[in-house]
Amino acid sequence: MTRTSIAPIKAAITAVGSYVPEEVLTNQDLEQMVDTNDEWIQTRTGIRERRIAKSPSHATGYMATMAALNLCEKNNIDPKSIDLVLVATITPDYQVSSTAPYVASQIGATSAFAYDLSAACSGFLYGISTAAAYISSGQYQRVLLIGADKMSSIVDYSDRTTCIIFGDGAGAVLFEASKNAYGFESAVHGSNGIGRDYLNIHDGGSLHPVNENTFKEKNHLVRQEGRTVFKYAVKHMSEASNKVLEKHALTHEDINYMIAHQANKRILDATAQQLGIANEKVLTNIERYGNTTAATLPLLLSDYETEFKKGDKLLFTAFGGGFTWGAAYLTWNYDIKN
Ligand code: COA
Repeated sequence: MTRTSIAPIKAAITAVGSYVPEEVLTNQDLEQMVDTNDEWIQTRTGIRERRIAKSPSHATGYMATMAALNLCEKNNIDPKSIDLVLVATITPDYQVSSTAPYVASQIGATSAFAYDLSAACSGFLYGISTAAAYISSGQYQRVLLIGADKMSSIVDYSDRTTCIIFGDGAGAVLFEASKNAYGFESAVHGSNGIGRDYLNIHDGGSLHPVNENTFKEKNHLVRQEGRTVFKYAVKHMSEASNKVLEKHALTHEDINYMIAHQANKRILDATAQQLGIANEKVLTNIERYGNTTAATLPLLLSDYETEFKKGDKLLFTAFGGGFTWGAAYLTWNYDIKN
């Protein structure tokens, strides 16, 4: 009896799209709102400005829809051919219902099922593993993964320790079976429930439902203990990245680009330094967008898509509320189609 071995299906990113609101909130604007200054923000975070979706109707679902339409239009993708729409977000349009089905309907992905994925700033990274698993198992052929957050809807613009960091935006990628040797290679994930004491929205969940003091105390808005989050972020992003590199017998020199969550430029620098990754390989958009939570990684892919060459080795890493974190290794699948 002869045995034929079937090569596993490798999932690859085959298209990218994005959307950021037009409205810009600069450090100078923030100087008028809280006790801060441009110099402090730039030196302590690397952020110059961020985008804010001012229109109330431009919520996460709208931004995710715009990013998905941008992807479909740029790459001539028929939305009806999409099997699954995943939206990574912590700012859904409604607490109940899921935002992804709305997005799927808006773009005309009539054959798709859709759901949200909630892992804060690690949401898109976890979504990469989820999308890749659906493709590799042969269960679905086209998975649209979107990272989108309207952080301005949960930020306290009187708290200088949080309002300077966050911005709004959305990015989308399409996963399909790779037609060459390139695509998703593997990922390492981690989490630690201790994190919910250091980064949370206190009220509005099942533990602390909204009560008569919620709005008075601003407990419906995001709070963090920045210094603690900073330390955990550097430790876990560098450890997870090292594990992924070791798994593939790679060194920092083999990596073409590090695509890391953009929470603070100093977190990025410290993580890259621990990994020995050269500055020019560390992609950034934090100076223009701030921390866009689940949108950060796909926005980076969109911003730098023209730089990537087929076969480039990309190291993704992220850290977020929960705590949640991880790293993923992908080989880039295509040269840009002009
Ligand atoms: N403008 C001016 N001064 C500020 C300020 C602001 N926007 N925010 C804080 N400060 C002050 C503090 O009050 C403190 O003053 P003090 O020394 O007189 O007490 C001083 O700056 C240092 O505060 P500290 O909290 O140690 O600053 P930091 O260097 O850690 O920067 C963060 C604060 C929030 C920018 C930083 O901790 C951070 O980025 N943490 C990670 C956040 C993160 O990743 N969150 C998302 C999860 S993915």
